[in-house]
Amino acid sequence: MLLEIQDICKIYRRGKVKANDKISLSVSNGEVFGLLGPNGAGKTTLVNQIIGLAKPTSGSIHINGVDAVANPGYARQMCSFQAQAQAPIVGLTPPQAIELAGRIHGGKKSNVQRRTRELIELLQLDEWNKTIGMDATGGVRRLVSFCMTVVVPGDIVILDEPTNDIDPLRRRLLWQEVRSVAEKGSAVLLVTHNVLEAERVVGRLALIDNGRVMGMGTPAELKTEENGSMRIELIIEPGKEIPELPDFLLNTISLNRRIISRIEQENVPSALELARELKNNEIIEEFSLSPTTLEDVYVKIVGHLEDDESAGVIN
Ligand SMILES: Nc1ncnc2c1ncn2[C@@H]1O[C@H](COP(=O)(O)OP(=O)(O)O)[C@@H](O)[C@H]1O
Ligand SMILES: [Mg+2]
Repeated sequence: MLLEIQDICKIYRRGKVKANDKISLSVSNGEVFGLLGPNGAGKTTLVNQIIGLAKPTSGSIHINGVDAVANPGYARQMCSFQAQAQAPIVGLTPPQAIELAGRIHGGKKSNVQRRTRELIELLQLDEWNKTIGMDATGGVRRLVSFCMTVVVPGDIVILDEPTNDIDPLRRRLLWQEVRSVAEKGSAVLLVTHNVLEAERVVGRLALIDNGRVMGMGTPAELKTEENGSMRIELIIEPGKEIPELPDFLLNTISLNRRIISRIEQENVPSALELARELKNNEIIEEFSLSPTTLEDVYVKIVGHLEDDESAGVIN
């Protein structure tokens, strides 16, 4: 394994916060590994320890068998890192910033120039090619940071929430490039609170909440633990109240007009009957019944979805 993390605990002394609580995981070459969890789960704390920006309270991190905590210089040499916090890119155009990053990471000039053009084309960034001082939007700046991270990728590529503020089209382009970086041999650690992203991009993932690993495996493996369950989604008519729901709707959450519940197989007929009745009475606009998704697993473990203030657990 290229990256091995064992029993990492990180306690912030003053805050008495246990940000990481015995986290163990390993990532190998060619793999996109997801760290998925809500804000405050401890994801950034974990990646900061890999590259020596924070020191573990206990536990060990090895890269290629080398103790990364004792040798932060080695860790940084092996890792390319895109921080969650936006670094200002002052006075440079995107191609200049990406090329500079590539050269700093030891790339040959001609290779770096070719790869810069390739990334700009892949992520459709050409229209900002001449924008100096990054007068561009946060999304464009984050894309440029991403390019700076993968222009000459290290053996380990760590991306902390790389798709924040990015439009859906370019998000997909970025996911493609993340996979291609792994296919070329790097181990990619992708930190995200976006379930859809995790489901589409990662090979394996760890679901983290309150500093602890709550589930680990491929998206399919995590969903298998929910085998036999189905999900029903009801879309409430605009302006209608959420109706009282029967007990066989489990782990129900509401997201604006969406109501999502888990149901056991034997209750599928009753759920369908309920949904039809609600639709006939024009309380819901539409409904759908489908197999469990990673989102359902996440909601069951974490209790809520991120990115939506109005999200709440009903039962
Ligand atoms: N430098 C710090 N000092 C004290 N507490 C911190 C520090 N950094 C993070 N924390 C706390 O640790 C927990 C995990 O934070 P973080 O790793 O940033 O989570 P995530 O990246 O999953 O959103 C949070 O409760 C956060 O407030
Ligand atoms: Mg974070």
